[in-house]
Amino acid sequence: MTDERVDGTSPVLVIGVSGAVGRHVGLQLAASGVRARTLPDRGLLAPATLEAAVQGARAVLLGWPFPTADGATDAVGVLAREVGRVVFLSSAVPGRPEGAVEALLAGSGVPHTVLRAHGFAAALQWAPEIRAGGAVRGYGGAAGLNPVDERDVAAVAVRALVEDGHDGARYLLTGPECPTQAEQVEIIGAAAGRAAEWREITREAARRRMSAGGRSPAAVDEVLDFIQARITAPEPATTTVLDLTGHPARGFRAWADDHAALFR
Ligand SMILES: NC(=O)c1ccc[n+]([C@@H]2O[C@H](COP(=O)([O-])OP(=O)(O)OC[C@H]3O[C@@H](n4cnc5c(N)ncnc54)[C@H](OP(=O)(O)O)[C@@H]3O)[C@@H](O)[C@H]2O)c1
Repeated sequence: MTDERVDGTSPVLVIGVSGAVGRHVGLQLAASGVRARTLPDRGLLAPATLEAAVQGARAVLLGWPFPTADGATDAVGVLAREVGRVVFLSSAVPGRPEGAVEALLAGSGVPHTVLRAHGFAAALQWAPEIRAGGAVRGYGGAAGLNPVDERDVAAVAVRALVEDGHDGARYLLTGPECPTQAEQVEIIGAAAGRAAEWREITREAARRRMSAGGRSPAAVDEVLDFIQARITAPEPATTTVLDLTGHPARGFRAWADDHAALFR
């Protein structure tokens, strides 16, 4: 453990501060008067860089933006040795490496909180196709994954980073309603003034696309099975955002209205 004294005035280390959630965590910490620090050199997989960055930090926001869990043992080992609190941005979708990271955190003994989501509202991967005026091609247009607004994930993360009482919790974060993927595309199109529609691709085409990202075939199939199952069993809404922050979770329409310019 760090020799530096750690107390309520010590900074929070925000790993992934340019990410969908990380940027809002940075802004919300600043607005609350909490000091924050960032990880240099994208050093999450470089134990010496990570170890230097966590010195004197009171808590760490951890994300795992990689296709496999390679390197997670070392990273979690550093955190377990050096910090007293970790908040992990995890995924509720099986077949992703976040499950292995959760298991490492649990086995390490470091006090930590897990925030799970099926997907963030930030549907920026669709922006090029919507801007180009074409259809959005994807698998499982009828699937209801209940995306959560990344600003709400950040608000919960900030609570878990700076407040006591969240260690050991596993929070499932959703939006207040569950538009299908195809409906999300239509909602964005309406907000941006574009004719946007979903075009379904085959499971085999989706498998090829996802495998190109470096995931194993078994992991890709787990994710695709999960999406397929959400067609007949959409994800129900949780009240976790409201319960923890005191404000209702933002809906997908609000996200689309606030980000419409990115799709024009
Ligand atoms: N996206 C979703 O819908 C979704 C859903 C559920 C859970 N999550 C969780 O959210 C977390 C972030 O996922 P994401 O893919 O959506 O992230 P993201 O918003 O794309 O952000 C990833 C962040 O990680 C940083 N990063 C990349 N490589 C790094 C490295 N080697 N060392 C340190 N930082 C690095 C990126 O920095 P640069 O800007 O420099 O690349 C960026 O700030 C993950 O733990 C994921 O499980 C995401």
